[in-house]
Amino acid sequence: MTPTTRPTTYPMSRAPGCPMDPPPRYAELRAKEPVSRATLWDGTSAWLISRQDDIRALLSDSRVVVDALSPGFPWLSELSKAVCSAADGQRSPGRMDPPEHTEMRRMLAPHFLVKRVRALRPATEELVDGLIDQLLAGPRPVDLVPALAKPVPSTVVGWVLGLPPDRRASFDAATARLFDGNGTPETALAARNDFVAQLVDLVEFRSREPDDGLVSRLIGFTAEGRLSRPSLLLQITLLVAAGYDTTVKMISTGVLALLCHPEQAALLTAGPERAEDATEELLRYLTVAEFAPKRVATADLEIGGQVIKAGEGIICLISSANRDEAVYEHPDVLNIDQAARKHLAFGFGVDLCVGHTLARMELEVVYGALFRRLPGLRLAVPFEDVPFSGSLDVQGVRSLPVTW
Ligand code: HEM
Repeated sequence: MTPTTRPTTYPMSRAPGCPMDPPPRYAELRAKEPVSRATLWDGTSAWLISRQDDIRALLSDSRVVVDALSPGFPWLSELSKAVCSAADGQRSPGRMDPPEHTEMRRMLAPHFLVKRVRALRPATEELVDGLIDQLLAGPRPVDLVPALAKPVPSTVVGWVLGLPPDRRASFDAATARLFDGNGTPETALAARNDFVAQLVDLVEFRSREPDDGLVSRLIGFTAEGRLSRPSLLLQITLLVAAGYDTTVKMISTGVLALLCHPEQAALLTAGPERAEDATEELLRYLTVAEFAPKRVATADLEIGGQVIKAGEGIICLISSANRDEAVYEHPDVLNIDQAARKHLAFGFGVDLCVGHTLARMELEVVYGALFRRLPGLRLAVPFEDVPFSGSLDVQGVRSLPVTW
């Protein structure tokens, strides 16, 4: 295998005019140097893993951890490093390792089981139908991001948490501020503090009036001494953070991808039962959380024929894995007939996304209902005028003007 000679810096740019495709360099790395060194923003370096098989092996290896407090952890910006450092040593499930991580997953998991998520489906269908009714009754064109993509995950996660309906509007607004996108470290921390203040209120409310939601369950663990109060608040904040922008971007950018591939949208319009296949294929094709899986090696290990030393940072390029020609016959083609289930859009291994069943259910409901009820849906602006998120954010559109 011939190593590439060009030095690699990470993150890399997507090709002009192709904001839904991963950087073209990923294909070159898969072919020539699937485990390669890259320089990060602060001059440190990390390993990039670009093939699906190598990423699966790595994310299943217990010698590889997520420990964000380790000096070798590959931070992608000063902002994310600052926000994590400000958490006073408290960690989200996404930044914990076993056994702490196993215990935390056990606390969260029952609220994301298939049976529990299935029970939320009728209410989600009603919610989505109501939002589409409002679209149909309102002016055109309309921006689908505030009209549909944001309210769905924000409302659904509110149900999971046990948010009383009268708190929904302020919760929605605080959640949206968390993802304002134009943040300095100071404004990002202020938005986080504001969001946490709302959660403190919710925790106090559910301490007085428990229900069967996740916040009440976690309060029970604090009473048993299994979870500290600061950790309780952090877990909920980061759970919402992990699930909100990802799902918003998948809804809006998934709709855009379908509008750009009318023959695929037509399959969905003709058979809304194809929503499950469409969801899996769009998750694969878009891989909106492409920056999520970052790790540190705790021992020397070999992956793809390359030795990674203890203490070195690793970045798993899941959007590259999801376009790996060794796994998919036509990786760069959006095709809902492609059996896309073997994708890594939710990660892999012990850190597999906690909320994947919930996200899948929301996406299936939205794509199915939207293309069934609005078969004439189309972009209201040229594709080039649709704004996409910045390079380090969850990947996807920031607004989506549509008409029908
Ligand atoms: C389409 C939407 C979503 C996508 C694409 C997505 C993607 C991901 C990915 C790639 C990871 C793995 C990170 C890693 O390996 O380091 C992850 C972890 C996680 N996600 Fe999601 N996610 C989505 C929705 C959600 C939802 C709805 C929730 C909860 C309400 C959620 C909560 C979490 C949590 C808590 C983790 C950390 C898991 C752990 O480390 O044990 N996500 N997600």
